[in-house]
Amino acid sequence: MKPLLEVNSVSKAYRIKKGFLRKENFWALRDLSLSIMPAEILGVVGESGSGKSTLGKLILRLERPTEGSLLFKGRDIYGLGKEYTRHVSVVFQDPRASLNPRMKVREILEEPLIVHGIREREDKVKEVMKLVNLSEEFLERKPEQLSGGQRQRVAIGRAIILNPELIVADEPTASLDVAIQEQILSLILSLKERGYSFLFITHDIRVVEKISDRIAVIYGGVLMELGSKEEVLKEPMNPYTKFLLGSLPVKHPRDRKREELQEIEYHIPEKGCPFYPRCPERLQDCSESLRRKEIDGRFIACNLY
Ligand SMILES: Nc1ncnc2c1ncn2[C@@H]1O[C@H](COP(=O)(O)OP(=O)(O)OP(=O)(O)O)[C@@H](O)[C@H]1O
Ligand code: SF4
Ligand SMILES: [Mg+2]
Repeated sequence: MKPLLEVNSVSKAYRIKKGFLRKENFWALRDLSLSIMPAEILGVVGESGSGKSTLGKLILRLERPTEGSLLFKGRDIYGLGKEYTRHVSVVFQDPRASLNPRMKVREILEEPLIVHGIREREDKVKEVMKLVNLSEEFLERKPEQLSGGQRQRVAIGRAIILNPELIVADEPTASLDVAIQEQILSLILSLKERGYSFLFITHDIRVVEKISDRIAVIYGGVLMELGSKEEVLKEPMNPYTKFLLGSLPVKHPRDRKREELQEIEYHIPEKGCPFYPRCPERLQDCSESLRRKEIDGRFIACNLY
């Protein structure tokens, strides 16, 4: 099977202010390659600041890569024009912020159809409401008249209304109560069964466990490990994955106390392995270089292998 989306040796530098007039490159992603297959959920997990949203933004063309390329069905995503936004859509963490509060649910759902010049909207809107398990009576409500879970269903409805092939979901359950999280995860799983692919971004490894087919672990902008859910969770190879699995339960950065945040905000070195300052298994050359390898079909970046 051919990949739906390929990320090829992508690096992303943000220009950040350093001193009065100087600017410096901050590398949010470094030489990252992965692919997303049709009808799969690829979970992307890592701590706050690891580069997860940056990867999502590159796939959505909200940011441009500094190096490397992204291909959709073998074609450069920047060569695909507006058509690309039909095939790839997004669900953000907080539907309160991502849904226009002045619009009714019906208008929110219709908007992408109007943008793409689709005339027969009524049936499509009804079909999507059914898919996301919302009664049609909600169509005349505004987002503030819905619960958090219902709002996220509307956001998912809008994301699928053009029948995209890939949906970038950036922490779509992080702002919801646990019981509602479960409902949204099962909705996403049911959409996967219908053939949609997801890049599912989360800081919580327990969430990727519930939902992913494969898992990509990112730290300091580097893809540390990628493999099937079973491989990565049951036999983690990279010390950073082992660390993530050992630091359960994971709290959302918003809920962490100040001291906890200070504790986890480690310096990320510019070269070598980003996990080097914290790694209990580090070797001498880890501060200088990082080996990337494929072992039995799974990807691993670590000098131990
Ligand atoms: N526009 C920007 N300009 C400068 N630096 C940025 C910009 N956007 C992100 N960064 C930095 O790039 C790094 C990766 O950010 P990103 O938002 O991708 O992380 P994340 O893994 O999504 O984190 P979180 O879990 O907190 O959402 C962070 O250090 C962040 O401060
Ligand atoms: S490359 Fe070295 S520092 Fe990095 S995870 Fe592997 S052993 Fe640890
Ligand atoms: Mg993020």
